[in-house]
Parts: sequence; structure tokens; C-alpha cells
Amino acid sequence: MSGHGTPTPMISHRADPLAGVAKVPGDKSISHRSLILGAMAVGETRISGLLEGEDVLDTAKAMQAFGAEVINHGGGKWSVFGVGVGGFAEPDNVIDCGNSGTGVRLIMGTMATSPISVTFTGDASLNKRPMARVTDPLALFGAQAVGRSGGRLPMTIVGAADPVPVRYVVPVPSAQVKSAVLLAGLNAPGQTVVIEKEATRDHTERMLEGFGAEITTEETEEGRVITLTGRPELKPQVIAVPRDPSSAAFPVCAALITPGSDVLVPGIGLNPTRAGLFTTLREMGADLTYENERVEGGEPVADLRARYSPSMQGGEVPPERAASMIDEYPVLSVVASFARGETMMAGVKELRVKESDRIDAMARGLRANGVAVREGDDWWAVTGLGPEGVPGGGTCESFLDHRIAMSFMVMGMAAQNPVSVDDGGPIATSFPIFEPLMTALGAKFTHA
Ligand code: S3P
Repeated sequence: MSGHGTPTPMISHRADPLAGVAKVPGDKSISHRSLILGAMAVGETRISGLLEGEDVLDTAKAMQAFGAEVINHGGGKWSVFGVGVGGFAEPDNVIDCGNSGTGVRLIMGTMATSPISVTFTGDASLNKRPMARVTDPLALFGAQAVGRSGGRLPMTIVGAADPVPVRYVVPVPSAQVKSAVLLAGLNAPGQTVVIEKEATRDHTERMLEGFGAEITTEETEEGRVITLTGRPELKPQVIAVPRDPSSAAFPVCAALITPGSDVLVPGIGLNPTRAGLFTTLREMGADLTYENERVEGGEPVADLRARYSPSMQGGEVPPERAASMIDEYPVLSVVASFARGETMMAGVKELRVKESDRIDAMARGLRANGVAVREGDDWWAVTGLGPEGVPGGGTCESFLDHRIAMSFMVMGMAAQNPVSVDDGGPIATSFPIFEPLMTALGAKFTHA
């Protein structure tokens, strides 16, 4: 759980030229899914490279509470002995998902078609976030949800004793909603169909196929139509979790804005549903290359090489790219501050309901550091001040949001004056080695 301790203020000072190899931790999305699908298979799923951040550890604890055996062998190696589809036991106590929207929403899906009642809670950030987007489709299976006003946690879900399969058009671009419906469909008879108008990260579909479920995806005029046949026997897997592109974004962006930098970030998953930031940076003129491109575990992977890029230009990020870089807009806005001209980011309403309202959180912090921001409900635009042009010197609130905290630490590495963050504690949810990794490259972080 995060957000329960005393705040950890952090200050980022101008960095030395960044150099070296940045081995970022395992992918957060794939780590959650490895534990959850492992718990729904019969037998031992072996996982290496699991992200041992607080979000994923909370999911591991939850899977134990549902009856799976979860063993940490050390060094990122874990085993999950699953209980099979429909085999979840009713937990003895409340399931606390800490800061993790992915954790709570996916787990709600997995239990919604079993005859058990589960109460979910989280930290102050998670307990503000909308859950109706998940409980609405789960009600179609026959599950009932009672939570606080506005569909917020804490919330109890009474799973359907006699679930029916559903056909559901996902109304917002959300991999979590899509995944919750597919995971619920696992324990419903017949075929569950999920349709998404905009492609979102497809790890659930790829992994379900790997675990032996019958699942197809078809591109149609209606969108991506995903059809899952319920009640499969999932077969345990050996999973090597690739490194997280969303974590890679921080050393990559830091290298692009910090004079004299040349950094290698090896083994990054470049699944097209996740790689939008890197495409955008290259369009802006970033010196970012893909080396040693290969396929690992069915996912495209490359080593990313990022060098200082003083001639980046702003521009428009196409709205249709938003889902493939939804977690990367905060750090993109930092890079945009060091580019020339305005960077327009439209079609990003979802940023308002992440771990924080990320448009508001970034706009406040950017302005505090001398950067002009314009914003509307579903768009924002950052005026670049060019390389070396960002004054810095401001203090930013992280709003219990790891990516806000890390983005401002990156800004301080190249700003004229140090940038402060009121609480770096949330960084541990997704990137527990952020500070030592960035410091080894040349970052200068202090604790107030
Ligand atoms: C995730 C989906 C995205 C993303 C989150 C991880 C996932 O959320 O922001 O960090 O693993 O499915 P939404 O589904 O709300 O877009």
C-alpha cells in the first residue's frame, strides 16, 4: 500500500551528462496479469522479471487471499500455484489494492462470476477513482456492486452465482475495463464478446491465448471485436516479463533533455499498443534509436538508445495515438517544455481520472517552474522554452501519483534551477529502483 506513510520530499538538481545502461524493472501491466492469470490456472506458473512495486505486490497478496499459493523465490522470480477458473475462495478480509487501478479493476473482473462476496478498498487516490466503468459491465454478468457515492471504493461486489456471458461495447478507451470483462467472461458459459472502438493495450488477450483460452480478435467497422469462450482450463505458463516501456520513458526523456547525454535502455517491449511515446519523440526530432530489434515471448522488443536532442520541435500528438501512450503524457509534457514551439495533446480526457488528474497536476507543476500551459477538458498544450530554457525552481505536488513525481524529477535534471517534489513516496508503486537507477546515470537527487 502506498500513500499511508509520511511524505518523502525530493529535490532534483541539474544532472551531469547522463551515461550508461538503464535496466528498468518489469512491465507493470504484464506483472499484474501474470499473477492473476497464474491464479486462475491449475498448477504452477513460473514468472521471472516480475515488477516488485507496491501495486503488483498488492495484487500478489490479493491472489493469496483468493486461495492461490504465491511464492517469492527472490530476484524477481515468483511461482503462482493457481486454483483454476471458478476456483476462487471468498477472502476472509477486505482486499486492499493500494494505489492500483489496474489491480482492483482486474481483480473485480476475476471474482465477479464466482459466488463470493468481496470488499475492495485502496489508498486516498484509488478511493477517488471511478469504478462504475467496471461494475456496469460486471452487472450484465449478474454481479452486484455496492460502493460509495459516485461508484467509488470502498465497494463490495457480490459475484454472480449463475453468470451469463455478455456482449459489451467499451464506452471509454480503457484496457482495464476491457480486461475486467474478459476476465469475468472466463467463468461464464458460452462466448463473451468485448468491442473496443480504439485499440488499447492488448496484454490480456495475448496472455489469455498463451494460457490456452480460446480467444479471437477481429478488426471490424464497429472496432476491435474480441471473442472469448468461457470456462476454459487455463494451463500454467513460464513467463519472462519484459521491461516496462512506461518506466523506460523516464531515463529516455531525461537523456533527451540533459546536455551531453547518451543512455542505453535495453530490452524494452515495443508492443504497438504501448509504444506511442517513442513514436512521438522521434517525430519531435529526438535522437532515439531502436537497436537490436527482436521478438521475445511474442512481443516486439528493442534496446532504446537516447542521446541529448537540443533541436526538438513541438507539434500535435494525434488523438488516436492517446491510448498507446496514455501513461506517458506527464513526462512528454516535460520534454515539450525543452522543445521549441507548442506541443498540443488532444483527446486525452482519460488523463483526468488516473492516479491523479494528470492534466491539472502537471499544469500546476509546469507553471510553478516557469512553463506556460493551456488546458481544456480533454486537451492541453505546453509552450516549449527550448533547450536550457526552463527556469525550474518550483515545488510540485505529486498528488499520490508516481508518474507526476518522476516527471518533475526528470524536469529538474535539465532545468536552470532545482525542481522539488512534495512527496516522492508514490514512486515505489511502479518503479522502486527509480532513484538509484537515475543516480547511476548522473542524476542528482536530494531529500529535503
Ligand atoms: C493499464 C491500463 C491503463 C493504464 C494503466 C495500466 C492496464 O489504464 O493507464 O496504468 O494494465 O490495463 P486504463 O485502462 O484506465 O486506460
